[in-house]
Amino acid sequence: MKVNVHGIDLAYDDHGVGQPILFLHAFPLNRGMWEYQVKTLLAEQRFRLITLDWRGFGESQIASDVSPMEMLADDVAALIDQLGIEQATLCGLSMGGYVAFAFIRKYPHRINGLILSDTKPEADSEEVKISRAQLATVALEQGSDAVANLQIPRLLAPQTLQQAPEVAIRVRHMVNAATPLGIAAAARGMALRPDSTAILAHIPCPTLVVAGEHDTITPAAQAQVWAKNIPNAQFALIQQAGHLANLEQPQAFTDTIRYFLHSAFTH
Ligand code: MLT
Repeated sequence: MKVNVHGIDLAYDDHGVGQPILFLHAFPLNRGMWEYQVKTLLAEQRFRLITLDWRGFGESQIASDVSPMEMLADDVAALIDQLGIEQATLCGLSMGGYVAFAFIRKYPHRINGLILSDTKPEADSEEVKISRAQLATVALEQGSDAVANLQIPRLLAPQTLQQAPEVAIRVRHMVNAATPLGIAAAARGMALRPDSTAILAHIPCPTLVVAGEHDTITPAAQAQVWAKNIPNAQFALIQQAGHLANLEQPQAFTDTIRYFLHSAFTH
């Protein structure tokens, strides 16, 4: 389905009835990465499961060459406005988590639960900012598949690459569905994001922090430390997963978030 927000068409899916859960995808993938989670949680018949493609990813349009996390958070707010949803639980993985932090800063009253997976509240170091600019250039000059070549070994654990090559094929397919401009704009947008560490102590809702055991982009040991600063947070480690924990260990990841959602919404 498509919805026009702030002048561009955003692609999204909306399944089920009940507590709304919004899934926010990683860079440079798309809403297809949540397929297993949506299918499994839909069977519970108590959640409304919404996925969307960021600007320039999947089937969403893009019209600008920078996508700040605040702009993507505004897109989320406009989407849930149009769907008639006042409050939702956000489940963001990596860049999806960066957007979730921007959303918390702008719309704290619209969140009633939070799942932050393989992400971090800190801003980029100067070194990472430079590598984001280089990645934007690769995307624009060499195309999305060149970005897939660079990203896949970082995103997936060595064990996943060896034992589940179909996961890498799926990731490549999603990266190739992104436009070079979408990839470049999001890379530049991530480099602009502010440090969100100070808001951790003020997160108002039940929160689950999830980390893949072998994530090298947002290491699990660091996630465990920052999760302690959130008043009402649980931490879960997904064994034998890298950065894309929900794709690498779909069942363990989904069991973990299902347990959290039941504890958060059973009164
Ligand atoms: C992601 O998975 O969204 C990206 O790896 C995030 C990042 O590069 O910081």
